[in-house]
Amino acid sequence: MNEYDKWLRHGLLARSAPADDGRVKALLAGVAGHRDATGQPAMRFRRAASLVLLPYGPGITVYNFVTRRAFPGTATEISVLLAADDWRTEAWLRDRVSIVDEVARLVELNALVVEGTGLAGRDEDYRRRWAWGPVAGLYHFASRDASYEDTLPEQTDGPILFRKHANWNEIPLPEVDETGNLWQVLRSRRSAREFSGEKIGRDSLGAVLFGGFGITGFVEDVSRGSMPLTMSPSGGALNPFEGYVLVRAVDGLAPGIYHYSGFDHSLQLVHGEEIPSAGTLLAGQQWADKAAAVVFLVANFARTMWKYRSAVSYRVVMIEAGHIGQNIQLVATQRDLLAAPTCALRESAIEDLLGVEAIDEAVVYAIALGERIQDGN
Ligand SMILES: Cc1cc2nc3c(=O)[nH]c(=O)nc-3n(C[C@H](O)[C@H](O)[C@H](O)COP(=O)(O)O)c2cc1C
Repeated sequence: MNEYDKWLRHGLLARSAPADDGRVKALLAGVAGHRDATGQPAMRFRRAASLVLLPYGPGITVYNFVTRRAFPGTATEISVLLAADDWRTEAWLRDRVSIVDEVARLVELNALVVEGTGLAGRDEDYRRRWAWGPVAGLYHFASRDASYEDTLPEQTDGPILFRKHANWNEIPLPEVDETGNLWQVLRSRRSAREFSGEKIGRDSLGAVLFGGFGITGFVEDVSRGSMPLTMSPSGGALNPFEGYVLVRAVDGLAPGIYHYSGFDHSLQLVHGEEIPSAGTLLAGQQWADKAAAVVFLVANFARTMWKYRSAVSYRVVMIEAGHIGQNIQLVATQRDLLAAPTCALRESAIEDLLGVEAIDEAVVYAIALGERIQDGN
């Protein structure tokens, strides 16, 4: 399997090229003398901000990780990209007619963007709104909408799954006192996907959402004033997560997608029309179709970016998803619901339904909830 096929298989590449709006042809026509109404050169282009060059394949792979287009770049194409670090005009191109074909190809492959096109708008959004640079950006954007993998690894000898030093002295620790409800809940949490398909109570859904996103206090910050606190820790108390829930079978709630307000402890309908099944949105995991509800954790990166500008903050936000997810699962356990976490998501489809924007807001984690199958059912 070549490098591109592998990338395709792992969802790193777009399956089809996002169509631009025919401006490449206009650009090239412009080289032959096109002018806009004011007599100014009508077209400008520059290289996309979300490009990385990777030493894959026979040469250098040029990869736009936001649009997910990759191609082996020739030396001339790479020199065009170097030269197009800022807006270049048709006049600039007219002085370099020998590279017109390369420019056309680079536009077609999303490596150059033409001012005024949809892709240029998206590129501008990325420049303005993604503060964590190409290191975090490459990982974040390239790992979305991946195909779900449930295959056994090729090698049979797996890694050792817990460490034990046979020859080291052991210092035993006092036995843990596990009395109390906390321990019982912690111990009984399991990922479970065998939902009965029955309705869950609105009180149970409310409790789970409150455990994950409920605002339980405020802290005063010198620059920001009052900042909300929740039941999980958050970098800079910026609490970047919003909770959304796909409701299929919840007592007293019409099916649809809702946003949960952690401030008011209430739901607002976001989308009540036809919704793809939970299994489809969870990348083809059909067991989720019997879930009564699926909670989506949506990161609003802009909140954390406001204060923290380094790429490590991307890790901070992902860790927070884990904290919230655990709280949600513990509350579900305490309410005797089944809960199953997953990162196998059709992010783009989910975000379209939620109406969130994928540059500085993104769904990163989901937890399916439902009733367990009762004995005799
Ligand atoms: C971040 C994360 C992602 C997961 N993704 C999936 C998934 O896509 N599909 C799935 O069936 N289980 C998924 N799981 C659940 C694991 O399979 C499960 O946690 C593991 O088997 C251990 O079982 P336990 O949760 O009962 O301790 C995920 C768990 C975590 C923490």
